[in-house]
Amino acid sequence: MANASEPIGIFDSGIGGLTVAKAVHQLMPKENIIYFGDTAHLPYGDKSTAAIQAYSIKICDVFLQRKCKVILIACNSASAAATDLVKEYVGSRAKVFNVIEPVVNYIRETYHNAEIGLIGTKQTVGSEVYAKKIEGLGNGLKLNSLATPLLVPMIEEGFLQGTISQDIINEYLKKPMLQNIQALILGCTHYPLIKEQVEHFYDGQVTVIDSSETVAASLKAYLEYHLLINTSAKSVNKFMVSDYTSSFEELTKLFFGSQVHLENHKLWE
Ligand code: DGL
Repeated sequence: MANASEPIGIFDSGIGGLTVAKAVHQLMPKENIIYFGDTAHLPYGDKSTAAIQAYSIKICDVFLQRKCKVILIACNSASAAATDLVKEYVGSRAKVFNVIEPVVNYIRETYHNAEIGLIGTKQTVGSEVYAKKIEGLGNGLKLNSLATPLLVPMIEEGFLQGTISQDIINEYLKKPMLQNIQALILGCTHYPLIKEQVEHFYDGQVTVIDSSETVAASLKAYLEYHLLINTSAKSVNKFMVSDYTSSFEELTKLFFGSQVHLENHKLWE
């Protein structure tokens, strides 16, 4: 039986998943979060499914040793590549969440007979997991997915506002497949940082879905329903990476909103 005071383990290929940790922290400030960024192996967006699965299992061991009540796969690429394996591996030891299923549920409740767009890494788009799940809902939904690999390095370099980033974003979004859509899923940890620029491109005509907010809301509903919301006064958050550098630590400010200290924790000795 899980216990409300146990931590929530959140992992990503690197620092970008802090957008999800931030959304969870803002919605449930009393939860204890253990964040793991696999900076030794990023980016996951270009890795094979087998490699991402192996890294994900190793990270789950870190969380299970620390008795996490929930393991949240914040990385879209890992959610696409490793969710089934992670669920099988973790079993009843923790509840596993990813960033895809809450978004699919939201789409099911909100849209019928519509075209939905998705942007993400090559791994996420190539896996076709979103397409299978959304088109498999059987209510006339069609998913149009586009890999947008330039966006992650662009965001990490701090190009968020201004003409360079808006030009790159526009170049991707003006593809015909992303024109007749009712909603666009931001299927990558980094993209919440350019949500405004994406909305600007569509001039408010397309709903832009930020999966970090959707997953945080779904996690909160789960914890409330199962009486697993932490009520103790103060949360303790811990942030780990598999390969520490000071530039990763500086990047935490961009994705979490405030700079946090990163502990080095190798996955393999
Ligand atoms: N975290 C990854 C994702 O959400 C993006 C960065 C990477 O490719 O590792 O897909």
